[in-house]
Amino acid sequence: KTLISNIDELNIDKEEIKKHADLLAKGKTVIFPTETVYGLGANALDEEAVKKIYEAKGRPSDNPLIVHIYNENEINSLATDISEQAKKLMDEFWPGPLTMIFKKKDIVPQRTSGGLDTVAIRMPSHPIAREIIRQSGVPIAAPSANISGRPSPTKGEHVCEEMNGRVSGIIVGGDCDFGLESTVVDMTSEKPMILRPGSITKEQMEVLVGEVLIDPSIEGKADIKKAKAPGMKYTHYSPNGDVYIVSGEEENVINKINSLIEEQEAKNLKCGVICKNKNINKYKGQVIGLGNNLEEVGSNLFNSLIEMDKKGIDVIYSEAFSNTGVGRAIMNRLMKSAGYKVIEV
Ligand code: TXA
Ligand code: MG
Repeated sequence: KTLISNIDELNIDKEEIKKHADLLAKGKTVIFPTETVYGLGANALDEEAVKKIYEAKGRPSDNPLIVHIYNENEINSLATDISEQAKKLMDEFWPGPLTMIFKKKDIVPQRTSGGLDTVAIRMPSHPIAREIIRQSGVPIAAPSANISGRPSPTKGEHVCEEMNGRVSGIIVGGDCDFGLESTVVDMTSEKPMILRPGSITKEQMEVLVGEVLIDPSIEGKADIKKAKAPGMKYTHYSPNGDVYIVSGEEENVINKINSLIEEQEAKNLKCGVICKNKNINKYKGQVIGLGNNLEEVGSNLFNSLIEMDKKGIDVIYSEAFSNTGVGRAIMNRLMKSAGYKVIEV
């Protein structure tokens, strides 16, 4: 049975969190909120505990996990060859939504690193995440708390619906701020390379460390199977409905989506649209506005896909978003949820 606790992130009940931290310390799995998405955690140094994460998610075992730490010093027991560049990024962005990849030490089990000789490390900023890691006394491996392939959950209610009964504990602690997973950057080569875009952008990092590369395989379909982050090659973020991105001049996009909806509805398919808030009234069908700017769009994207499933939508049309700043992360997730189906108008 799953122990479910509601915790107010502004007024943390440490006693209640202790129950969950004790579960983690005993090798069990607990879901908790982070500033990006909900995470499904277990003791990163305990192979049997980590195995439970893969089982709960139905996740392929070659897909490595991110290890979450409470303070910067812990990195020295998990990884080696921490560069000056990495230290600068840590100083600026930790705690926060940045994951860095280093050469791993032997203490990190192969099961955690998916058989790689590197380890991904992140120090989250969410107060509940920080408190549960601190009280558990161990580094916590935590992928997003979804069944493998589904959109990552950013709301407590969605986590409970999907994962109740699959884990030992769930802490429900409000909505996640960023709504997209952390930026993953490989620090093992001379120039840092982004393996997964997130809300901390290439441009923000470059101010501190000079040129930052982007794994070319994450921007298009062609090379995706060669992606350096093993997780990037799997089907991902897929709602039950079929997602299409419609891209082009705004007016053309609106007209195209509305005519596609007419065609689909004639076949008795239920259609949904996700779009910028200013266009909400321009579409037929079930419309969800994602926000007024890219930050809001990022924080609502996964949630909107889950809501479309709840409404039983068969086909989801999405506007395209600008591919700059956080937009790069948004388009990366959206492209994957659409299986790279883009209609250009
Ligand atoms: O925001 C986040 O990062 C969330 C929260 C819970 O912290 N976690 C998360 O974990 O998104 P997950 O497991 O869903 O995604 C981890 C990504 C995968 O694409 C994985 O392949 C990549 O990071 N990764 C992990 N370790 C790696 C390594 N050693 N080398 C290359 N890629 C790695
Ligand atoms: Mg994930």
